[in-house]
This record gives sequence, structure tokens and C-alpha cells, in this order.
Amino acid sequence: MIALNGVSIAIPEQATTVIMGGSGSGKTTLLRLISGLDRPNSGCVWFDGSNLAEISRRQLFTLRMKMGMVFQYSALLNSLNVEENIAFPLHEHSKLTDSVIHTIVTMKLEQVGLRGFEQLMPSELSGGMAKRAAFARALAMDPKVVFFDEPTSGLDPISAGVITTLIQSLTELTRMTSVVVTHDVHAGLSIADHVILMWQGEVIAAGSPDSIRGSDDARIQQFIEGRADGPIPFSRSNTNYLDDLLNPRPTVAA
Ligand SMILES: Nc1ncnc2c1ncn2[C@@H]1O[C@H](COP(=O)(O)OP(=O)(O)OP(=O)(O)O)[C@@H](O)[C@H]1O
Ligand SMILES: [Mg+2]
Repeated sequence: MIALNGVSIAIPEQATTVIMGGSGSGKTTLLRLISGLDRPNSGCVWFDGSNLAEISRRQLFTLRMKMGMVFQYSALLNSLNVEENIAFPLHEHSKLTDSVIHTIVTMKLEQVGLRGFEQLMPSELSGGMAKRAAFARALAMDPKVVFFDEPTSGLDPISAGVITTLIQSLTELTRMTSVVVTHDVHAGLSIADHVILMWQGEVIAAGSPDSIRGSDDARIQQFIEGRADGPIPFSRSNTNYLDDLLNPRPTVAA
């Protein structure tokens, strides 16, 4: 089965690129390919002058130090507290002393608004706090690029707004490159410098949020307006609501 076909995209540096599209359109697959987690069967993925599809595992490992990942369900290590979770990549990948690592962790927690929550365990965090802790962990190594898969899924609108604003402000502040996969069309268009819209494994539009909003392609308009009628067939598998129902995230505080 072909998951992605004929995809050719460029991710602008020091800007926020938002990848949107219906369920099963290939967003996560695209994110995994451009972050080097998966390799394509054919084609190239260029990052910093290297083709991720061809380099050795060791080279890939080194390049991936420049990337941070925020996975859909935060993927914090349950047996470690917040501070230890964020320190983890620094202990693993650097020779920094404990006190330097402590300072870096404090800085990162400050950036995501989690100062004072160092000692909490992941199970004690709300959904929004867990996302922010995962964000802090992704920032620990000062990455050039941070990839987010559905950073706001399972959050109430206010917590989701906090996370999207945080992505936008930290992208500007740290001059990093952000790549965000989201179902949230409104939030996606509001934080994006560049939008990539996918449908059935293909990129059907790429450009500024305004060019996407102004497009006269019926598929794009249907997606933006969230209508069930139109060229994109609607089915229950086109929504994530079952997933969210089955895996409820606490949303006490963002
Ligand atoms: N490694 C793989 N090899 C082949 N097919 C795959 C692979 N990974 C995913 N697929 C298929 O590719 C399609 C796109 O999946 P993907 O997870 O990228 O969609 P998505 O846009 O992220 O959907 P969702 O919004 O539900 O998360 C699906 O039909 C899936 O079964
Ligand atoms: Mg996905």
C-alpha cells in the first residue's frame, strides 16, 4: 500500500509550518519521514545538506540531535518526574555536569510555564501540562527543528490555545523551525507561516495561510469549513473523536 505519493515539499527555516488534512491523509507518515523516524521506499529527504533516506544510522542519530519531537500523547517516561524527564536527553546525549543540566532544565521549564512543577510525576499532570513538559523535553537540546504531532488533541479549547500560543511564541523567540501536524484548522491557520494540506497521501496545497483561505479548490474549502458534503468523502474514520473518547486526557489546567 502506498501511504504517500509524489510528495514534494520544502519546510521554511525559522518559521512555523502546519501540516493539515483529514484522518489517514498521511500527515503522521510525512512527519515521520521528514524527521528521519521512517525512511521512504523511494525519494529523498534533505535536512541540513544530508539526505536522510541514504545516510547511515549513526549519521542519522547525530543529525536527529538537532531535532525535537513532541508526540501526540506526550510520551513522558512515567517513572521519572518532570525534571528528570526533561533532563533525560541531556544525560543521554551530552557530557554536561548535573548542575549545568539542572540550570538548563529550569530554563526550559520557565519557557513553557512549568517552573515549580519539577517534582510532579507525569500521572499528576493535566493533559495541557503534560504537553508542555513534552515540549520542554523537546527543547532541552536546543534543536533547530521541533516536530509536533497533534499538540492540541484531547485538550479543551483554552488549554489548546495556550499550547498553540506557546508554539508560536517559542518559535519566534528561539528562531527555531516548527513543524506542526494538526486537525485544528482554525489554530493551524492562525499560527502557520506556511501550510501544507494533504489528501489521500498527496499534497493538494502548500502556501501561506491566506493563499489557502483564498483557494477556490473545492476540497480545500470543504476542509477549511469542516463540511461533511463535498469532494472529500465523510466517514466516521475521518474523525478522531472515537480516539479521544477512548483515551480521555485530563484537562484540569493547561
Ligand atoms: N509505514 C507505513 N507503511 C505503509 N502504510 C502506512 C505506514 N504508516 C501509515 N500507513 C498508512 O498510510 C495512511 C496514512 O496514515 P497516517 O497515519 O500518516 O495518517 P494521518 O493523516 O496522520 O491520520 P490521523 O489524522 O488519523 O492521525 C494510512 O492509510 C495508514 O494505514
Ligand atoms: Mg496522524
